[in-house]
Amino acid sequence: MNILVTGGAGFIGSHTCVALLEAGYEVIVVDNLCNSKVDTIDKIKKITNKEVVFYNIDVTEEKDLDSVFSTHIIDGIIHFAGLKAVGESVEKPLEYYYNNLVSTMMLCKLCKKYNVKKFVFSSSATVYGDNEIPFREDMKLLSTTNPYGETKAMSERILTDIAKADSSLCVTLLRYFNPIGAHESGLIGEDPKGIPNNLMPYITKVAKGELDKLCIFGNDYPTIDGTGVRDYIHVVDLAEGHVAAFKNITPGVHVYNLGTGKGTSVLQLVKAFEEANKIKVPYEIVDRRPGDIAECYADVSKAEKELGWIAKKGIIEMCKDAWNFEKNIK
Ligand code: NAD
Ligand code: UD1
Repeated sequence: MNILVTGGAGFIGSHTCVALLEAGYEVIVVDNLCNSKVDTIDKIKKITNKEVVFYNIDVTEEKDLDSVFSTHIIDGIIHFAGLKAVGESVEKPLEYYYNNLVSTMMLCKLCKKYNVKKFVFSSSATVYGDNEIPFREDMKLLSTTNPYGETKAMSERILTDIAKADSSLCVTLLRYFNPIGAHESGLIGEDPKGIPNNLMPYITKVAKGELDKLCIFGNDYPTIDGTGVRDYIHVVDLAEGHVAAFKNITPGVHVYNLGTGKGTSVLQLVKAFEEANKIKVPYEIVDRRPGDIAECYADVSKAEKELGWIAKKGIIEMCKDAWNFEKNIK
């Protein structure tokens, strides 16, 4: 089975390529490398000892993408390609709407032309908005606070409407919680350009001495210790969730949370990182970050019941693997 993985050179996509190859699938990666490096493809090959077909192509460019569909028989798509920095999406909304929506629609158009029926989409817990916890797939979605979040909610709606109009289409929407960690080899992981926006890559840069200290955004939330609570999931578990989703894909639209179901506060994550790696992470409490919610974690029972998938790795392993990868970055 050939799976077209868009954004396969990125953080989650690269780990998913490894999981797919190890499960016996063949992968064709399309990535324009706007937020990743080409040597990640070689690292995927090194970890798995398997071949990967790679195209440096922008998914919004119809002619280029069409040539991939006409060259290969594609059995299904996992669509990771997208821009994901929340703050940047507020400054450059058009870039975000264009890239994230046109890429999804272009893939749908070519799926129709080439009769590809299986489509797995990278969505986000951000579509729940500030809802009641734990977040369940059948909840009414509340408005998101930024253009990035809107592109995820809109892509979900576009895919849902397209699947409604064609009952042979199989669409799976995966709502990720907070992926962190890295492959145990230390070869692939999260290496954002510039100053990280997300918590774990910021922690690892502070631990390495590249940044002075972590700024913790608020300690006056109604949570266990006042700092924000999130559902952190090891990226390798998340990658395996995609294999389970693909194996179990059926006609219609199916939505799954991919998380652990457990909440961890910012302070708890910092302490776990210090303990796991025997290294200090200096921090300072600062004001809340606009748009942040107090607490967010998943109800994961649907994915367990229907996909037979459950996250296995704990916070300590996530911290060890994130640090192991960071130490390898030159
Ligand atoms: P990433 O930036 O590491 O990977 C995305 C990849 O897509 C990059 O390699 C980038 O070069 C590529 N890309 C972007 N636009 C493209 C285009 N038009 N054509 C071809 N390639 C393009 O991000 P990630 O963390 O691996 O996230 C993957 C997906 O999961 C994204 O859609 C993201 O929004 C979603 N997601 C991520 C998180 C998270 O915390 N990382 C949470 C929820 C959802
Ligand atoms: C953010 C996005 C979300 C996106 C996800 C993955 C927002 C509001 N949400 O989720 O849409 O899907 O990233 O890209 O931006 N924190 C600090 N200091 C830091 C960084 C973070 O204290 O330097 C805190 C945050 O306040 C939060 C927690 O750490 O409580 C996690 O933050 P982050 O890693 O940015 O993820 P989210 O905000 O959950």
